[in-house]
Amino acid sequence: MIIAIDGPAGSGKTTTAQEVARRLGFLHLDSGALYRAFALAACERGWVGPAGDVPRERIVELAALDVDGEVVQGAIMAVLEGRRLAEEIRTPEVTACASIVSAHPEIREQVNAVLRRLAAQNPTGIVCEGRDMGTAVFPEAELKVYMDAQPEERARRRLLQRGEDVSRESVSRESARLVARDRQDSRRAASPLRKAEDATVVDTTRLSFEEQVAQIVEAARRRPGSA
Ligand code: DC
Repeated sequence: MIIAIDGPAGSGKTTTAQEVARRLGFLHLDSGALYRAFALAACERGWVGPAGDVPRERIVELAALDVDGEVVQGAIMAVLEGRRLAEEIRTPEVTACASIVSAHPEIREQVNAVLRRLAAQNPTGIVCEGRDMGTAVFPEAELKVYMDAQPEERARRRLLQRGEDVSRESVSRESARLVARDRQDSRRAASPLRKAEDATVVDTTRLSFEEQVAQIVEAARRRPGSA
């Protein structure tokens, strides 16, 4: 069984998908981590221009790098040229660059190939999350969820997660950053962020973490032949 969770930045996809996967005994696939691996490679090689752009010829070189996913304790860990990646892919610089490199079809093809291979190797079930899981990568997914929340709430959660202050100014600054990234992710030509027609919308603005997880786990268990 494949559960595809898509939605904008900070909607709670990663933590929710992790917990849903744990409860169902499925593998958690965080597609963003693979885009972040390519972004980290671009940052480390000094290929990011002053406006945050990565030149076209560098994209071709980037796409040729060995980015893979390794299963570690029920989730995939991004691996760049044999190096397992952790928190270094979560910096603001890498986050901004991931949105840029993910707009390129060459990079998307590499990520999608890794995701499909990992899914095929895990017949029990997977919970994958990103921007185009239900629309492009796994259109055959048995359950599709589109998670959303108001930008200010998403910004507040992001700041709390990072242990930063949640004053009105910080929330409004972070919210503007999230909205800008969503715009970039939804306006690109290659697999833009959008809700799959057959996806169920879960607006998490007023839901607790437990409620979000429970809604998805129950929906999964209602599917015929499910866990
Ligand atoms: O989910 P995340 O914040 O880790 O994703 C980082 C970037 O990668 C995000 O700005 C958009 C891109 N991304 C994508 O284009 N498609 C996906 N399936 C997952 C992420």
